[in-house]
Amino acid sequence: FSEFLTDGFGRRHTYLRISVTERCNLRCVYCMPAEGVPLSPPAHLLSTPEILEIARLFVNQGVTKIRLTGGEPTVRKDIVELVEELGKLRSIGLRELAITSNGIALHRKLQRMVDAGLTGLNLSLDTLDPFQFQIMTRRKGAFASADNSLGLETVLKTIDTALDMGFGEEGSGKVLKINSVVMKGVNDHEIVDFVEMTRDKPIEVRFIEYMPFDGNKWSRNKMVSYNDMVNRIKETYPTLQKLRSQRPNDTSKTWGVPGFRGRVGFITSMTHNFCGSCNRLRITGDGNLKVCLFGEAEVSLRDMMRKYRGRDLEAGGVGEAAGGREEMESELLQVIGKAVGNKKEKHAGMGELE
Ligand code: GTP
Ligand code: 5AD
Ligand code: SF4
Repeated sequence: FSEFLTDGFGRRHTYLRISVTERCNLRCVYCMPAEGVPLSPPAHLLSTPEILEIARLFVNQGVTKIRLTGGEPTVRKDIVELVEELGKLRSIGLRELAITSNGIALHRKLQRMVDAGLTGLNLSLDTLDPFQFQIMTRRKGAFASADNSLGLETVLKTIDTALDMGFGEEGSGKVLKINSVVMKGVNDHEIVDFVEMTRDKPIEVRFIEYMPFDGNKWSRNKMVSYNDMVNRIKETYPTLQKLRSQRPNDTSKTWGVPGFRGRVGFITSMTHNFCGSCNRLRITGDGNLKVCLFGEAEVSLRDMMRKYRGRDLEAGGVGEAAGGREEMESELLQVIGKAVGNKKEKHAGMGELE
C-alpha cells in the first residue's frame, strides 16, 4: 500500500472525502449560523479539472472510495458532470463513489449520477414533521407549500426514488443511508419514527450524536448519547440488537430490529470515537488537505497545482512535454505523505464524553 497514504500508526487511507462547495441551500441549526458561513471567493475554490486531478492522484495511490460532500454538493452547478468524470476512475481502481446530500435539489440529477457509477447515497433528514423540518433547516418560506410540507416531501420523494432505483437491494451494490442528527428537546422524540422506517425499507437510518463545530452553539445538554438512544429505542423495540459490523472503518455502530428490512446505525463521534480505525482524508472546497475532521487544514494542494499550471502556461501550455505533470505529482505526493505521516492518533475534538 502507498507509503504516502499510510500514517505513523499504520492506518491506511483508502477513503477520500471531497467537499465540492461550501454553499448550502439549507441552514440546519446544528451546522450553520442563521446567516450562513463566510464563503471563499470563487477563484479560491477547486475547479472541476483540479478536483479530477486530485481524485486521480489519490486513486492511483490506493484510494478506493470517494465521497462528495459540501456544504450541499448538489448546489455545485456541474455536479452531475463531475460525478460522471469521477465514475471513470473505476477503471483505475475506484470501487465506491458516494455523495452526502440534503436531498432538496438531488431528485432530477440522481439517475444520471447512478448511470455514472454512484454507489452510495447518504441523505440528511432529521425530522419527519414538516413544521419541525422548517425549524431545523431554518428554511421557512423558501419551500413552503400550502401545508408547509414541501421541503420534507422533496426529501421523502428522493428516498423513494432511490429505493426504486435499487438502492438498498441486496446485490445492487448501491447503499442508501439516512443521517439524522439527534438534538435533545428538538427531534429526539422522533427516534422511534425513524426506526419504524426500517421496517419495510432496506435503508440504514443513522442517528448522529450532535457535535460541536465553530459557531453552532453546541452544548452537552443538547446532545443525546449513543447509550441513551439505544435505551430509548429498546423501550419500543425490545428486540433491537447489535449486528456484527461488516466494515471496520465505518463511522457507525450498526444495530437492527430482527425482521426489519433496514438497519439502524449510530455515529458516536462524541462518546466512542472511531479514530483508531480511521481511513479518511478530506479535501476542502478551497483545495486544502485535512487529515482529520477536527483538525486544521494542513496544506494547499490547490496552490501547488496552480503553481505548476502557471509555469506550464508560461512555457506555452505544454505541461506534459515539459515533464511538468510528473514533477507536480511527485511534489503533491511528498506534501500529502508528510501531512498523513503526521496525523494524530486521536482527534482533539473533545476527548471522550460519557
Ligand atoms: P459512509 O461513507 O457511509 O460511512 O459515510 P460517513 O458516515 O463517513 O459520512 P457522512 O457524510 O454521511 O457523514 C455522517 C456523519 O459522520 C456526519 O455527522 C459527519 O460529521 C460524521 N463524520 C464523517 N467523517 C468523520 C470523521 O472522520 N470523524 C468523525 N468524528 N466524524 C465523521
Ligand atoms: N453534529 C453532527 N452531525 C452534523 N452534521 C452537520 N453538522 C453536524 C453536527 N454539528 C451532519 C449532517 C449531515 C452530515 C454530513 O453531517 O446532518 O448528515
Ligand atoms: Fe449543513 Fe448539510 Fe444542513 Fe446544509 S443541509 S445546513 S450543509 S447540515
